[in-house]
Amino acid sequence: MCGIIGYIGKSEAAPILLEGLRRLEYRGYDSAGLAILNGELSLRKCKGRIANLADLIAREPVCGSIGISHTRWATHGGVTDENAHPHFDQSGKLAIVHNGVIENYQTLKDQLIAKGHFFKSQTDTEVLAHLIGIHYDALPGEASRQRLVEAVRGALKEVIGTYGIAVMHQAVPGTLVGARRGSPLVLGIGKGENFLASDVSAIVGHTREAVYLRDYDIVALDGVDFEISTVNGGTSGFEVSTVEFSEDDVSKGDYPHYMLKEIFEQPDSMANAFRGRLSTEESTAKLGGLNMTPKELRDIERIVLTGCGTACHAAMVGEYLLEHLAHIPTEVEFASEFRYRNMPMNKDTLVFAISQSGETADTLAALRESQRKGHRTLAICNNVASTIARESDGGVYMHAGPEIGVAATKSFTSQVGVLTLLGLLLGRIHHLSTSEGIQIMEELNAIPDKVRTILKQSDYIKSIAEKYSYAKAMMFLGRQFSYPVAMEGALKMKEISYIHAEGHPSAELKHGVIALISPEVPSVFIAPDDSVFDKNVSNIEEVKARKGPVIAIGTEGSTKLEKVADDVIYIPPCPDFLSPLLSVIPLQLLSYHLAVKLGCDVDKPRNLAKSVTVE
Ligand code: M6R
Repeated sequence: MCGIIGYIGKSEAAPILLEGLRRLEYRGYDSAGLAILNGELSLRKCKGRIANLADLIAREPVCGSIGISHTRWATHGGVTDENAHPHFDQSGKLAIVHNGVIENYQTLKDQLIAKGHFFKSQTDTEVLAHLIGIHYDALPGEASRQRLVEAVRGALKEVIGTYGIAVMHQAVPGTLVGARRGSPLVLGIGKGENFLASDVSAIVGHTREAVYLRDYDIVALDGVDFEISTVNGGTSGFEVSTVEFSEDDVSKGDYPHYMLKEIFEQPDSMANAFRGRLSTEESTAKLGGLNMTPKELRDIERIVLTGCGTACHAAMVGEYLLEHLAHIPTEVEFASEFRYRNMPMNKDTLVFAISQSGETADTLAALRESQRKGHRTLAICNNVASTIARESDGGVYMHAGPEIGVAATKSFTSQVGVLTLLGLLLGRIHHLSTSEGIQIMEELNAIPDKVRTILKQSDYIKSIAEKYSYAKAMMFLGRQFSYPVAMEGALKMKEISYIHAEGHPSAELKHGVIALISPEVPSVFIAPDDSVFDKNVSNIEEVKARKGPVIAIGTEGSTKLEKVADDVIYIPPCPDFLSPLLSVIPLQLLSYHLAVKLGCDVDKPRNLAKSVTVE
């Protein structure tokens, strides 16, 4: 949450910062701002989107080749111009942008007010700015890079909480200082210019050489050089990485929205998740990143899958998959619950933290808690440089490419794809035969083409979305493997169209949910031709008997559905356990087209941010 970008070099900073902020806007879009250092600090900030900031800068231009900027997802303090970043210290000579939460800010603020400090905002960040300013002023000697670094270090020792920050001081014009704890921060190494950013997507148009800073790192940079130390004053090792993706990968291309682009990327993103991981020789999956010997894999007695939001829904599919394919007892726990719950787990329980971004605060905390208790904790991540990927004991990368739309789409299918590979691997060392293994692999390899055929129905699904755009509430219902898909369909619908939506197991209807059914409340049944198809049809009949409109997702050739449902969207046939990879696609398209019809901002839904780095 919140995106920051800093620039130091020879070019005009403002256009570079604005462009970087546009790429980071998915991280928060309550307000935006920048500060440019050119002799003295110039500040431009306002509430609303980056476009508002761009308009402000067009009216009141700023020049200079050193600057820091921010796009905000509000935590402390409402959405106002004053609370927008950057914030200044008491002297007005030091500026900071911050992603994270300073938990003890109120205590610090009270102490500073008692000493005569004045604050312009309600933010925790402004307190940190004042604190760094105090340390800077208290340090002896000339203005220097070292003095600014020491001031940042001194202030950070006093704060409790999380931060990714960029700081500059009018008296030290050739230096930017960055630091991180709990919030991501990347150093981009250019030619005669350097960058700080929350995410490489902000700088990939300028450089693909990056250092992913670690917790407690402090970096000081000028246009040609940088120096990394730690908050405690020690030295810090670092690695320069080459960013895997290009500027094109983080642009919308010809699509009107990132979400639609990412939905249509799924045949390729799923193929990428499977590529090189299916061995025909041994008819099993190969997942070297798990870092586990065959014996260790055989000894797994229980699996716990944890994540948030869509990742948690993928985990729910994983629970069904792992129990079905590998017969290993599996449980799913919201990461936010896991971290506080103290689940009884024996030592042979394997824990997986599932996260597209690899930066979700609750999932990271669950991972750390699990490791603290001595459990091997693996990750299923998309972002290779993320904190969760780095801190886990091993894992599997999704290789889905950057996902920018706030609504998760391709990450869901990649997560489910990876969990299927895991099920195949564990199933083959327990009870699955060679021929069963081969059959599963063939079915998996056929999935991307089947997804392509579903995507061809986008216009048809759009017509259904428009037909039901009157709905104020919707039900999503499914059984067995389709139950988590129903949950995911409901999340997509409410998150981007703001239509109240609920996901339930179909059979739960009669235990209460059915009271909500009426002609104004359409139900979406995920009813592929699986072992519970007839049961699902009975549940559809129950809804129709109460005059509830029904959209059904069914398998090609399953004509029974046309007799009971008002509209049917067909998916190609596949084994029950692979159906989530197909049945979720129409739900993504349905929510997308409905949200567009309602004029909603699909890629940046209200109140949300892509990467939830606060608790
Ligand atoms: O990056 P993560 O996979 O850890 O994100 C988890 C959730 O915040 C995320 O899936 C969220 O629920 C999406 N906005 C859903 O579309």
